[in-house]
Amino acid sequence: MRHMEITGKKVLITGAASGIGKATALAMAGRGARLFITDIDSSGLEQTRREIAESGGEVCLSRPLDISDYEAVRKLADEVHTGYGSLDILANVAGVALFSQVEDMTHEQWERIVNVNLWGPYHAIECFVPAMVRAGRGGHVLSVSSTAGIIGLPWHVAYAGTKHALVGSSEVLRYDLRKHGIGVSVILPGAVNTGLVQTVVINADEDACEKGRKLFARHAIAPEKVAALIIGAIEKNRYMVITSMDIKLLYFLKRTFPPLYGMVLRFMTWFLDRSLTRESLSSRI
Ligand SMILES: NC(=O)c1ccc[n+]([C@@H]2O[C@H](COP(=O)([O-])OP(=O)(O)OC[C@H]3O[C@@H](n4cnc5c(N)ncnc54)[C@H](O)[C@@H]3O)[C@@H](O)[C@H]2O)c1
Repeated sequence: MRHMEITGKKVLITGAASGIGKATALAMAGRGARLFITDIDSSGLEQTRREIAESGGEVCLSRPLDISDYEAVRKLADEVHTGYGSLDILANVAGVALFSQVEDMTHEQWERIVNVNLWGPYHAIECFVPAMVRAGRGGHVLSVSSTAGIIGLPWHVAYAGTKHALVGSSEVLRYDLRKHGIGVSVILPGAVNTGLVQTVVINADEDACEKGRKLFARHAIAPEKVAALIIGAIEKNRYMVITSMDIKLLYFLKRTFPPLYGMVLRFMTWFLDRSLTRESLSSRI
């Protein structure tokens, strides 16, 4: 099995202002990585940069940007490549979430989920991976997908689409980049206690949203635990990392006994419908 040393590696982390991205940036800095961090939240990003610097870590570059803006990502890539050369590790972490029944979604909500969760990682892969290939030093490309990337989670129609796409593209890259010594990982977290618990858009009434958030937080693991799994995935070139046992079981069921998987999903859908709202918003307007 490969062992990739993280010390001294040039690592770009998107979504580094909060949650999994921030925990990963701090953990990588602790391992001696040379960091390039970005996020749309400039003050959160500055806080991450400060914490890394205070703990003796190295941030080569910290740039706030919207990952769904291709020109901004291209400009960042030019700045990184001109000043520091190609990356060794790319970690696509930034993302946004939406819980909704399909009939309650606005076009802007569809667009935001696709632009940030899918175009975001595609922009980073397009702008940074070719230079890694040309440099010929190997490396690693990691994307944070979600349980919704392998399971048809209820109320996640757009989110699940983007996260499934990340799994599909990661599988292709896993084999395409092998000849260049570039490993690929896709991380599939269950519930994680991050900023997302508060920023997730839930198309349901306020009481139901609060109930949903509490339910989610109760099952959530710490982002530092996911960061440790991310580092392990890079070091050992682990391809698919599922962070919780219940999701491992459900995915196993999906592949081995689809009728039972179908029953579980019907139950989950019934449960979420009942917990979040008794009727769709559109029928109440
Ligand atoms: N928290 C969970 O339970 C959970 C579960 C499965 C998957 N995930 C995935 O993990 C990843 C990280 O999420 P998190 O839980 O740490 O949430 P988080 O909200 O704490 O962090 C996400 C970060 O992405 C940034 N971001 C959002 N839109 C952006 C944009 N347009 N451009 C640049 N940055 C942007 C945010 O500012 C934030 O700092 C996401 O891709 C999410 O889908 C999270």
